Amino acid sequence: MSYINENFLNLQESYLFSTIAKKVAKYSEQNKDRKIIKLGIGDVTRPIVPACIEAMHKAVDEMGTMEGFRGYGPEQGYEFLRKAIIENDYKKRGIDLEEDEIFVSDGAKCDCGNIVDIFAKDNKVAITDPVYPVYLDTNVMSGRSGKYNSKKGIYENIVYLPVTSENDFKPELPKEKVDMIYLCFPNNPTGTVLTKEELKKWIDYAKENKSIILFDSAYESFITEPNIPHSIYEVKGAKDVAIEFKSYSKNAGFTGIRCAYLVIPKTVKGYTKSEEEVLLNKLWNRRTCTKFNGTSYIVQRAAQACYSKEGQKQIKENINYYLENANIIKEGLEKSGYTVYGGVNSPYIWLKVPNNLTSWEFFDKLLEEVNIVGTPGSGFGPHGEGYFRLTAFGTRENTKEAIERIKNWKK
Ligand code: MLT
Repeated sequence: MSYINENFLNLQESYLFSTIAKKVAKYSEQNKDRKIIKLGIGDVTRPIVPACIEAMHKAVDEMGTMEGFRGYGPEQGYEFLRKAIIENDYKKRGIDLEEDEIFVSDGAKCDCGNIVDIFAKDNKVAITDPVYPVYLDTNVMSGRSGKYNSKKGIYENIVYLPVTSENDFKPELPKEKVDMIYLCFPNNPTGTVLTKEELKKWIDYAKENKSIILFDSAYESFITEPNIPHSIYEVKGAKDVAIEFKSYSKNAGFTGIRCAYLVIPKTVKGYTKSEEEVLLNKLWNRRTCTKFNGTSYIVQRAAQACYSKEGQKQIKENINYYLENANIIKEGLEKSGYTVYGGVNSPYIWLKVPNNLTSWEFFDKLLEEVNIVGTPGSGFGPHGEGYFRLTAFGTRENTKEAIERIKNWKK
């Protein structure tokens, strides 16, 4: 008999974005004449920039030659990319990292999900609420949660840290001791940020409690304001307690190409039950060598090209395009009387649902009455109830049209 991992039965029926995709497909099938504008999942629409395309063409050609062909690459990523990451993403910000502290991968979603492998099952996990569902679901899958309480919409044994307009979207430190803390800033889904001083509190907490911060900075390229850290390592002490997830998906539009990286400084430690220190870098390296054969050479060359002068310029243009979309959404909604958050240092706009509707009721109305898809706040957790997320990753034309439709909408 093959017994299953019963933790999977503890998960909600479907992953948030799959549920939305199914609902939209059904509506679209029944209303073939409608033009549906999708501002739901944070998927990009701008093409890959020419610098990356050229780099990939060149890499493909190399693969067809005796001298240029590559088979399995280093599991942790090629030296050329890890060096470029250190120079551009860290050294320029005054952060010193070594090559073997960087692990190149095929996506931050996988990294965020896989990292749980190296942690004990009985660690207490804290997540902000609302939250990117991958952090929670992967801890449920690996048995770190208790049962789901459908009345409250929460799992036992998970510490939820509310981020709502009441606390200005700044999570408070947990009242009880936690071992693993997920933070994502600029935040998905609320689009809000923390300053260096605000993040410092978390570093101090983690040091005091020997906890680990799992910091997702997938959206750092959208930061426009000063004093907002682009990397957690800009904050003093973070190299002792934080793992950082970075992605090329949102800045360079690699959602379909797949490339990301994980930073585990060799100063970050976990503990055995007998309180011996173990370097997490060592554990992750061991896991990576066993379970991963490296990101494709062609893709890593594309990622390297993001750091060239041309690449940087072209990527900046795309980011500015999305930030302008965010501004169009934010201003348009505000003019229509909505209360809106985010959208300044982030491609996400988080709005308060009007007329006391639930997030899902608003989702249905928006889809059926003005044919716009967004993401219901409650899909990200119980404290997302009453909120709704729109993404700025659409085309300019669709973004403008969506806002016009909302402006003219008799809710
Ligand atoms: C989102 O819409 O929250 C993200 O695009 C999903 C992801 O990055 O996996």
